[in-house]
Amino acid sequence: PKLEPCAIVIFGATGDLTSRKLFPALYKLYASEDMPDGFVIMGVGRTEYGDDAFRDKMREALEEFAPNFDHGLWHKLASRLYYHTLEYDELDGYKSLEKRLQEIDKNEKANGETQGNRLFYLAVPPELYTTIANHLGDAGLAAPGQESGWPRIVVEKPFGHDLPSARELDAALHRSFSESQIFRIDHYLAKETVQNILMLRFANAIFEPLWNRNYIDYVSIIAAESLGVGHRAGYYDTAGVLRDMFQNHMMQLLALSAMSPPSSFHADRVRDEKTRVYRSLRPFDVEREFKDLVLGQYMSGTVHGEKVPAYRKEKNVPEDSNTPTFAMLRAYLDNWRWQGVPFYITSGKRLADKVSRIVVQFKEIPHSMLRGVVEQSIEQNKLFLGIYPDEVIHMYFMAKQPAPLLCLSPVYMHYGFKESGVGPELEAYEKVLLDCIMGDQMLFWRQDGVELTWGFLTPILEMCDDCGTMERHLHRYKAGSWGPNEACELHPGFFADVTTST
Ligand code: BG6
Repeated sequence: PKLEPCAIVIFGATGDLTSRKLFPALYKLYASEDMPDGFVIMGVGRTEYGDDAFRDKMREALEEFAPNFDHGLWHKLASRLYYHTLEYDELDGYKSLEKRLQEIDKNEKANGETQGNRLFYLAVPPELYTTIANHLGDAGLAAPGQESGWPRIVVEKPFGHDLPSARELDAALHRSFSESQIFRIDHYLAKETVQNILMLRFANAIFEPLWNRNYIDYVSIIAAESLGVGHRAGYYDTAGVLRDMFQNHMMQLLALSAMSPPSSFHADRVRDEKTRVYRSLRPFDVEREFKDLVLGQYMSGTVHGEKVPAYRKEKNVPEDSNTPTFAMLRAYLDNWRWQGVPFYITSGKRLADKVSRIVVQFKEIPHSMLRGVVEQSIEQNKLFLGIYPDEVIHMYFMAKQPAPLLCLSPVYMHYGFKESGVGPELEAYEKVLLDCIMGDQMLFWRQDGVELTWGFLTPILEMCDDCGTMERHLHRYKAGSWGPNEACELHPGFFADVTTST
């Protein structure tokens, strides 16, 4: 894929996401000369702004959120910036948007032509996705023209709140856009360390032969956060951890850990293999209720030395909310490779620290020649794929201590991304934007995956919608702990998995 000229049209341009993430990412790409020669950025929103007022707003955003902000460079970028006011549900605004984009292309050659290519980025609440997508279609902005280049649409999760709504959203997007034009973001996929999982597994000969039920005891996938819900309680209380983290990021990490090697590194070949993983997910057995699932909600406590309130006391959270802020799920994949191997998937807010990692625990050695010879137990090999804060690959194994008496201890092999000294890495949003401009869907969800993962989670979510069930089964945990004790009963290795320093 190559970097093509285009107009980047951001809906929700006066919102938080644009100021904090999108614009700083675009600025950084521009500063590092990674943007195509011809591009313009068109902010779109309901708030009335002229081009200049919008430029001022974006400058302020960059001064706050872009490191190394350079005023000289800003002036060059500012001339490529425009703003268009519209009501999201009025077609006329979209028609005049189309006109403005055409005029800009015609009149402002200095910024390079966009060749009619348009990237529509929906940085708006998901309730607006359908309205905007439909109007883009009706205004003729969604159809690739004979001469007029490509339109693409970018949406962020949540992709619906259950299987039927995910299907409805997809039908709405597909009314005007084809699958190759739709980019469903999962920012975890854009992390260097997450992209590296497939490289580690499939660009080396030594891991794949062991990567199966014969040698692996369990896989633990962890995204622990120390933050609470912050100012997003309105959204979070209707979502909970299962919709907020599991349906998207955690399921992607599961697929990357468990998939088989694709025959080639192309978006659809890779996504085919992920889909196979989702198809093999053993359906959650609601009869067993909470045998494979622990849900929790944080109480008040101390996180990183700071006293924090209980979830139910957070602003905009109902006092009787039973929304889970922590979940550990034991999942199984019914296929030859993984039969019987538990995947412990854990995520929660207000935990002791922010730690994202995948831990692969290998089986015990089949027989110890050292029984009765050394006192230490022989620990199982463990491979840590660190995502945050340690961006590492870290492998534990047993070795002889250099000493006259025979003595074993666990030691490790280590690779740190940051220490490798290879060029600057792209931030998640920079990578996402670049890939959209290049039309590379590798790091984006395909609809079959969205539906299969919603399908898997729906029985669990329905169980959670039952108030009585939640009253009985939602465990309270202290903010600043590692979650409810029941999590360590479900997965006794959890504490070591999450706290082992790498
Ligand atoms: C988002 C969730 O998708 O991911 C947030 O909505 C969560 O609740 C965030 O905090 C975590 O992302 P990261 O990159 O900080 O691990």
